[in-house]
Amino acid sequence: MVEPSGTPFERIQDAKALIEARQASAPRPSVGIVLGSGLSPLAQEIENATSIPYSEIPFMPLSRVVGHEGRLLLGTLRGVSVACLSGRAHLYEGHSPESAVFGVRLLAALGASRVVLTNAAGGIADTCTPGTLMVISDHINLTGKTPLLGPNEERWGPRFPDMSESYSKKLGALALELGRKQKIPVAEGVYAGLLGPTYETPAEIRMLETLGAAAVGMSTVLETIALRHQGVEVLGISCITNKAAGKSESHLSHEEVAEVAGRASRDFVTLVSEFVAATA
Ligand code: HPA
Repeated sequence: MVEPSGTPFERIQDAKALIEARQASAPRPSVGIVLGSGLSPLAQEIENATSIPYSEIPFMPLSRVVGHEGRLLLGTLRGVSVACLSGRAHLYEGHSPESAVFGVRLLAALGASRVVLTNAAGGIADTCTPGTLMVISDHINLTGKTPLLGPNEERWGPRFPDMSESYSKKLGALALELGRKQKIPVAEGVYAGLLGPTYETPAEIRMLETLGAAAVGMSTVLETIALRHQGVEVLGISCITNKAAGKSESHLSHEEVAEVAGRASRDFVTLVSEFVAATA
C-alpha cells in the first residue's frame, strides 16, 4: 500500500482547501452530520446543496458498503448551514482508524462545532425494538482501535482527552424532547462499537447486555473519539434495525438492516431536521 503524504493534519488541510475553493462564497457549516446505513434520505432534505463525491476529495476514503452513498453535501437544512457525509468508511472494510475518522475531522475543519453521528444498530435493551431511534448516552469502544494512536496532534487537542461526556448531555436531552414533541419514539442508551463485519453471537450479546450496552453496531465510536479530541460536541443517534443476535428467532442480514432503516427514515429525517433547526 502506498503511504499517503504529509501528516493527518496536513491531509485534512488539503481536503479542506479543495472544498473551500469550490465553495468560495458559501457560509461555514455550523452543524456536521454523518449518515449511517439506510439513512441517506436525509440528504434529500438539504437545500441549495453542493454535492462533492468522495472520489474528488483528496485522501477521503471510499465506502464500498451497500446503502452508503459516498458524497459530501454542503447546504442548508431548515435554514441552518450544514455539512453532511452521506456514507462512511468502516474499519471492517480494511480502513485504518485514521481513515475511518477522516470524514469527521474534515467536518470539524470546515467549521462544524457540533456533529450528529448516526448509525444502524442492533437492539439489546427491551426499549430498543426495530424502528426505534436511540439517543446514544455513552459508548463502549470494543474495536480495540483508536484514531489517536501515534504522535499527538496538539493543533487538534490534548494527548489524553477527557471522555466523561463524550455525547453531549444537553444535545441528547434536546433530541429526546424534540422526539416527545413530534411523537416519535426515542430511547436512550449505551452503544457498544465492535469491529464487525460479522454480526455478534448470542453469547456476545449476553456479554454486552451485562456490560450495560443497549445497542450494538460497527461504527461511530472512533468518530466520537476524534471529535471529542478536537472539542466538537457530539449527538449520537442509532436507528435500531433489528433485535440483536439471540434476542429473536430470525437470523440477521444487511438487507433487513437497510430495509428497516429505510422504513424508519421518515422519523429519523424529522428528528434530525428538528434538531438542526433548534440549534440555530
Ligand atoms: N449488530 C451490529 N451491527 C449492526 C446490527 C447488529 O445487530 N444491526 C445493524 N448494525
